[in-house]
Amino acid sequence: MKQSVKLIAGNWKMNGLGRDLAEAEALKLALEADPAACRVVLCPPATLIERMARLLGGGAVELGGQDCHASTAGAFTGSVSAGMLTDAGARLVILGHSERRAGFGESDADVAAKTEAALAAGLEPIICVGETLEQREAGEAIAVVSRQVAGSVPMSVAGRPFALAYEPVWAIGTGLTPTLEEIEAVHRAVRLALQGRLGAAGDVAPILYGGSVKPANAADILAVPEVGGALVGGASLKANDFLDIIRAV
Ligand code: 13P
Repeated sequence: MKQSVKLIAGNWKMNGLGRDLAEAEALKLALEADPAACRVVLCPPATLIERMARLLGGGAVELGGQDCHASTAGAFTGSVSAGMLTDAGARLVILGHSERRAGFGESDADVAAKTEAALAAGLEPIICVGETLEQREAGEAIAVVSRQVAGSVPMSVAGRPFALAYEPVWAIGTGLTPTLEEIEAVHRAVRLALQGRLGAAGDVAPILYGGSVKPANAADILAVPEVGGALVGGASLKANDFLDIIRAV
């Protein structure tokens, strides 16, 4: 099967102030001196996107948001629209992260609606799926992620650039990871669910793995069949750690 270029994305979550732009600058300089063998994306908090876009200057590091509203504008205090992310300099957006699903009650239908909004604004969505520990222990991991793919991925992604991210909830920020065999099994299931939904248009979108990806485990995880990259939380906050992961591709 044709494989697209790997994508390594850093999700800063609710971390990062102006002083942390130095990490993005260090990353940019390192990748200008020695280009990455993959796409590199940083997803800082919305408050930093515009400043980071100026700093990075459309070079080796692309920018993404961490969420967007499904509407284009209106009375939604505190929310950010997809068009605002594009306007600030983002080209991608993470959608349906488990911290949004669990903490903000986002359903598959909400994630699909946000994905439509992101596409309409010209953003490349990174749609997240993943099971809880309870679901894994009940043997439901594959059923859960397959259902999330079917419900969260709108048909309109067909023919557009997009990515999926498999992030087992119990592996996020815990230092725990599934075995390489478990990662492969779920990624194959995500691919099948994507093809079931989109036909051949589901063949090539990268499926990222996320959840406690570190310099020490990145090479092994990135070598697993159907792992098209990584979505990195904690280890993306420091340029040196993130670079070690990027160099593991
Ligand atoms: P950690 O890499 O900190 O486990 O976070 C993963 C994640 O949630 C990325 O979106």
